[in-house]
Amino acid sequence: MENTKIWIIASFALAGIVTGCNQPQTVWLDDLDLTAMTQGHGVAMKNKSVDGKTLTIGGQTFERGVGTHSISELAIQLDGKATSFMAQVGLDDEILEHKPSAEFIVIGDGKQLWSSGVVKAGDSAKPCTVSLNGVKRLELIVAGSDDGPYYDHADWADAKIISKGKKSFPTLKFIATEPYILTPPAPATPRINSASVFGVRPGSPFLFQVAVTGDRPMLFSAVGLPEGLKINQETGLITGKLTKSGTFEVTLQAKNEKGITEKKLRIECGDRIALTPPMGWNSWNCFGHEVSAEKVKLAARAMIESGLVNYGWSYINIDDSWQHHRDPNDRTRGGKLRDERGNILPNTQFPDMKELTDYIHSLGLKVGIYSSPGPWTCGGCAGSYGYEKQDAEMYAKWGFDYLKYDWCSYGGVLDRDLKKDPYSVSSLAFQGGGDTITGRRPFKIMGDYLRQQPRDIVYNLCQYGMGDVWEWGDAVGGQSWRTTNDITDTWESVKSIALSQDKAAAWAKPGNWNDPDMLVIGVVGWGNPHQTKLKPDEQYLHFSLWSLFSAPLLIGCDLEKMDDFTFSLLTNNEVIAVNQDPLGKQATCVHAIGELRIYVKELEDGNKAVGFCNFDREKAELSFRDFDKLGITGKQIIRDLWRQKDIKTLDTGRETLSLKVPAHGVLLYKFKQVQ
Ligand code: GLA
Repeated sequence: MENTKIWIIASFALAGIVTGCNQPQTVWLDDLDLTAMTQGHGVAMKNKSVDGKTLTIGGQTFERGVGTHSISELAIQLDGKATSFMAQVGLDDEILEHKPSAEFIVIGDGKQLWSSGVVKAGDSAKPCTVSLNGVKRLELIVAGSDDGPYYDHADWADAKIISKGKKSFPTLKFIATEPYILTPPAPATPRINSASVFGVRPGSPFLFQVAVTGDRPMLFSAVGLPEGLKINQETGLITGKLTKSGTFEVTLQAKNEKGITEKKLRIECGDRIALTPPMGWNSWNCFGHEVSAEKVKLAARAMIESGLVNYGWSYINIDDSWQHHRDPNDRTRGGKLRDERGNILPNTQFPDMKELTDYIHSLGLKVGIYSSPGPWTCGGCAGSYGYEKQDAEMYAKWGFDYLKYDWCSYGGVLDRDLKKDPYSVSSLAFQGGGDTITGRRPFKIMGDYLRQQPRDIVYNLCQYGMGDVWEWGDAVGGQSWRTTNDITDTWESVKSIALSQDKAAAWAKPGNWNDPDMLVIGVVGWGNPHQTKLKPDEQYLHFSLWSLFSAPLLIGCDLEKMDDFTFSLLTNNEVIAVNQDPLGKQATCVHAIGELRIYVKELEDGNKAVGFCNFDREKAELSFRDFDKLGITGKQIIRDLWRQKDIKTLDTGRETLSLKVPAHGVLLYKFKQVQ
């Protein structure tokens, strides 16, 4: 009897606990660990928009929720312990003027459970209620619509999960975060890392730094240098001038205590320059509008002292904001735009341009500048509109070697109502850039003036790929052209840019490069410095693809704050050699297995560089046998370029290659035909 009583009491207690455990609980989305959320811009914000303002959709404000930016993903482990998800979704009013649109999607265990359809800025919040019974993994996605992911400040307002007793849920991080270095350190013996071809025009000052790693002191020489050129034995800097066109085969030599090495250099003196993609640094991604001559000099110094220069890195490019701003009261940039004769005036942060370029040249480096064909640059500083000839002459006089020419306010010039006074354009306008005549004209004007200068100025067209610029960039005098809008340091940005490059690939050749924008590795931040948000594997993939693409390699990070991992990414001579290959072909994706995309680049030596690029967030493990799809046949030696190791000799007709590619990562191999 007594036992029965105890049993009854115990079962009531247990039932109570169990019922208590399953009591519905409200788990707010903003209370979860949002660091796992990936997004196209900024970071996930708790109870705020992505720009840190009150969540506001269609005029309605919300106290709770998560502000993000497309393309955005968050995965939550529910393990069947939730009954429903509810939210009010929409684009935040903070970007109304840009009129973006996007789509909110809810996925449960791989199946789409709900979609908002395309929502536009200004629309009222859309209620979302989704049943989650049995769902183990919930995914909240904001995808861009046909207008791309630009300005999609997306709010999951009032977002909550109703759980079966759980007070919280873990969010899932898929991509490894620990940096790991693959590039072996350079040997103490001399190794020449510079490109094997260099283009120059007759009469232009010649500046070529032989890039060599190995212990110092080092002794440099060059056999077969044509008349007019000389090499500095201590620094390896080749200077002078060639008066006649022609091809000159030179043998470079570098010697130190530990050994001696040689490499051929082909000098092509003619009308084409930038015969391999420019490699250097640009001020925009780290300093934004806070750039100054001092910071640029420090970057140049860091390029030398870090040793980057020994791998072929050579341009130091000043981006926007060296000029005066259209706001005369701007703290550092307010002032007279041009002098009485129309010459452009640098702002106070750049007190002496000639002294700056002389300094950079004295280090053996080259230097770049930035302007716009419109009256204003993207940052609202003086552009070149109406002063193109004078500006081109001034750049040459100051000693610049590179110009980035950025469309921006030129759209205002095309706008008929504003034609009389383009300087009255108060917002930066992009329209008209795709037009066959009007979109090309301003670039041709500057291209022609640059060509008339007595020095070589590499010309980069920055118009984000409008009007398929790769088809006509060469005709207007460009050596490279942006193929996309601005990159940001997010996986979504790098991925969407990477996947959109193939269309332009056929136009890449020596002297003409597609520019998918700068490298977003190291400390970046556009005035708000932070370590890149790309995970280590994503950075390996980013650098490998930009090398396979024969893209200009422009470092966007603060060179003074470079850590060992970033340095290792930038100094793998075998990977850089893929980028600098003199054949100048751009890799394309020739085969895909799910999200594993395989890019192949033909090399001058007849071999192929192959990138097994995993865009999936799960690692890819497979036995690969489709070599014919890569155009690879017969016996091959396979070399892992990041690790700089031959990994296998393989008969592609009979054998398979086992591949393990990290999530969002890459294997970059060279397939060398065995004769
Ligand atoms: C545009 C360009 C960027 C940078 C800024 C400067 O956005 O695409 O690369 O030059 O302008 O304002």
